[in-house]
Amino acid sequence: MNAVTARAYPNIALVKYWGKRDEALMLPAAGSLSLTLDAYATTTSVSFDEAEHDRFDLNGVAQSGESLRRVTRFLDLVRERAGSDARAQVVSHNEAPTGAGLASSASGFAALATAASAAAGLPDDPQSLSRLARRGSGSAARSIVSGVAVWHAGDGDATSFAEPVDAPEMHMVIVTIDERQKKVSSREAMRLTALTSPFYEGWVTSTELSLNAMLEACRDRDFTRIGRITESHALRMHAVIQSTDPPVRYLSPTSVAVFDAVVRLREQGIEAYSTADAGPNVAVLVQPGDADTVARELAEYGRVRAVGPGRGAHLLPAETA
Ligand code: PMV
Repeated sequence: MNAVTARAYPNIALVKYWGKRDEALMLPAAGSLSLTLDAYATTTSVSFDEAEHDRFDLNGVAQSGESLRRVTRFLDLVRERAGSDARAQVVSHNEAPTGAGLASSASGFAALATAASAAAGLPDDPQSLSRLARRGSGSAARSIVSGVAVWHAGDGDATSFAEPVDAPEMHMVIVTIDERQKKVSSREAMRLTALTSPFYEGWVTSTELSLNAMLEACRDRDFTRIGRITESHALRMHAVIQSTDPPVRYLSPTSVAVFDAVVRLREQGIEAYSTADAGPNVAVLVQPGDADTVARELAEYGRVRAVGPGRGAHLLPAETA
């Protein structure tokens, strides 16, 4: 059968998702908001066939173990909805270092949901794709959407999806400090946080407040307020992660040095705000005109790359497959 190919980009949350209220349905404990990037794409082809098992090739390497099982579990959902038991060949190319906190699971499952839905003839409206992508990796729900996206916590499977938010144009400077695979997956660390952090409840309720404030700031096109909420919410997430038993710490001394350097840039009048996901790399939110200056200023801490808002997951024409 012909392969269907889709491309998706990672997103970086400005209001973070950290914690699930339903693990099976991947429903988040609170809503979140992100910027989809125009770099580090994942391009994925899916074709269903008569083989006995799913096959998953990532960056030219045939996958086995947990990596393959995650894709198979996801394809089982697609098969269930399509009323089919055909196995699939999945060929994926990821431009970002996998598992280093650069949201490769978000672009990965957004591309897989889009390609597999098309290959299986499932609905291709953004809400259905976002709900499906969510089942692979929560943050993937947001990579279906272009630019700024809000992922609603919802009150069940049908209402927990991401949709676009009108906001000022924002760019990011990604400071890559360490490309190695993180030791504790976000899935595992989220579970640990909910189970053991004495601050978890406060984290969840304050995230809802941060999200409301962020939506208001986007509506007012108030970059300063967006930036302040972004940085404080990221630090709160890392604080609650560090408060687990046993503790988990994703930020390295160099990550903290970047956060400090960004504070100094603000003191010099350059509006920049830091955030970091479940890894040591830092993403710095800036207005488009400041991206090059900030990238230059932060180059001593790691590999820097200025990125802009990117497209939500989309199919590629057949000939590029
Ligand atoms: O979707 P997951 O399981 O990769 O979790 C993403 C968690 C963070 O990146 C740390 C936060 C977020 O909202 O993207």
